[in-house]
Amino acid sequence: MTAIPQTDRTAPLVEATAVTRHYRVSTGAFGHKATLHALSGVDLSIPRGAVVGLVGESGSGKSTLSRLLLGLETPTAGRVTLEGRPIAEIPRKQVARRIQPVFQDPYSSLNPSWRVADLIGLPLAVHGIGDGPSRARRVRELLDLVGLPGRVADAYPAALSGGQRQRVAIARALAIEPEVLICDEPTSALDVSVQAQILNLLLDLRRETGVAMLFISHDLAVVEHMTDRVAVLYLGRVVEQGATAEVFNAPKHPYTAALKASVLTPDDAAGLPDLALGTVFPNPLDPPAGCRFHPRCLRATDRCRTEAPATRDVAGRRVECHWAE
Ligand SMILES: Nc1ncnc2c1ncn2[C@@H]1O[C@H](COP(=O)(O)OP(=O)(O)O)[C@@H](O)[C@H]1O
Ligand SMILES: [Mg+2]
Repeated sequence: MTAIPQTDRTAPLVEATAVTRHYRVSTGAFGHKATLHALSGVDLSIPRGAVVGLVGESGSGKSTLSRLLLGLETPTAGRVTLEGRPIAEIPRKQVARRIQPVFQDPYSSLNPSWRVADLIGLPLAVHGIGDGPSRARRVRELLDLVGLPGRVADAYPAALSGGQRQRVAIARALAIEPEVLICDEPTSALDVSVQAQILNLLLDLRRETGVAMLFISHDLAVVEHMTDRVAVLYLGRVVEQGATAEVFNAPKHPYTAALKASVLTPDDAAGLPDLALGTVFPNPLDPPAGCRFHPRCLRATDRCRTEAPATRDVAGRRVECHWAE
């Protein structure tokens, strides 16, 4: 008999510990390769039933972390665990049973040639849950749960609006009653008028089902509304992490404070936010020495330019700044 790795019910449901993710990328001419530092030593945990926010500019590593937490990619160093057990050791299907994604774009995440009933029922079929009639009943229940009329079951995605498609994607994610949803910019591709409806749906579902969430967004106001805890990512590092209200009301890291004064976009091509963050481009191919934020920080000193700050507990949260006190 092979030993079954132990799971620990007291451990956070999903946890990233010292997670680093590098990519080898070509940098233009002569096939030259360089290392892109997407994430560098990230700690993040999603407790059972909690909604944890992840904010940061475009390119800070949010989507990379979401793929690692879903077990879709493996870290270069560090580990991701599910109830204390490394995700890499758990069969893919078992991970998918418990951690489900909701992506930004419901247009590309739903196969256009499938009817809604089949899209939502697929996870039930894959996991061998129920038979034909019970799956059909479950699909109706799920449509109801996400606020869609039963007749949508027979429709193809093309006949639905963006908001309806995202509801279908959420119903599909919930079909097998996962414990965590990893929501990566779940409303950024939707019209502003429907964004609030989808956000409220997610909050209702959390109340009704107790599902935990990682909620990724470039929109601080949305994260403030949606989450209990928040982690602020800068150039692949979590610079501040704590209770959402405390972090946003009284930021301890100058980057969090600057973010509050900026308007971010989810669009990779849109470049940097303006305002408080200046014009120095954070380059993951060549992260700065010392504190990664120092080239853009108004408070930076010589120490910040040479010595990387350790993550410390300050005022009930985790902060990575020499001057957090
Ligand atoms: N598969 C990949 N190959 C090479 N570079 C990648 C890959 N995925 C992400 N990156 C790079 O990693 C950094 C973080 O990207 P990402 O996680 O998508 O950030 P965010 O979601 O915060 O915008 C970016 O510089 C991005 O270009
Ligand atoms: Mg992203």
